[in-house]
Amino acid sequence: MLDDYSKLHSTKVDGLFDALRKETNAVTSRPEMQVGPVEGRFLRMLVLMTGARNVLEIGTFTGYSALMMASALPEGGVLYTLDRDEVTNKIARKYFGKAPFGNKIRPILGDARETIKTVPGPIDFAFIDADKAAYDLYYEEVLKRLRPGGIIALDNMLWSGNVLNPEDEDSKVIDSLNRKISKDARVEGVLLTVRDGIMLVRKN
Ligand SMILES: C[S@@+](CC[C@H](N)C(=O)[O-])C[C@H]1O[C@@H](n2cnc3c(N)ncnc32)[C@H](O)[C@@H]1O
Repeated sequence: MLDDYSKLHSTKVDGLFDALRKETNAVTSRPEMQVGPVEGRFLRMLVLMTGARNVLEIGTFTGYSALMMASALPEGGVLYTLDRDEVTNKIARKYFGKAPFGNKIRPILGDARETIKTVPGPIDFAFIDADKAAYDLYYEEVLKRLRPGGIIALDNMLWSGNVLNPEDEDSKVIDSLNRKISKDARVEGVLLTVRDGIMLVRKN
């Protein structure tokens, strides 16, 4: 499989990420929600390349993507990560406590539709990876707080291919957001076929 080849030929992740992956597989019901080593490293690369200092993530789960992005933050950088699930958040916090850069992460528990309003801007880089029904709302709220030239990465924007024939509600939301972004004069966007589709957006 090309995914395996891609993983094999990317820089290996630190042991902490392997441990988190194993624990997530063992104790959560939907471990596939984790971004994994290739997309995780891609997010780290984006934070490194943009020199982002103020990062926002919507959708912490057990903390894999938050740790990857935080590992790229400079001194004084901070990553806010939002989730409402207390059980998976506890695992995330445990691993944030083990990482040398974990003190740069600020987990915020609660419904992200509300907690996003408490995150201080301007945001340099944002990763949206939570409930699809609220993707448009998250996009608009993040865009308001994003600095000009800032970047948003939206995950699952190909939704296992269902965007080609959107029938259920989530597929329709994602398809219409893809259409909206492609015509949005406030931004420049590119929809990448990495994993389940990553829409990269740069605010003008
Ligand atoms: C796909 S997972 C995130 C995966 C994570 N980025 C990673 O790589 O490990 C989506 C997360 O969004 C959270 N979520 C869903 N709806 C939410 C909401 N309204 N407010 C806050 N979190 C929400 C879920 O609890 C879940 O942990």
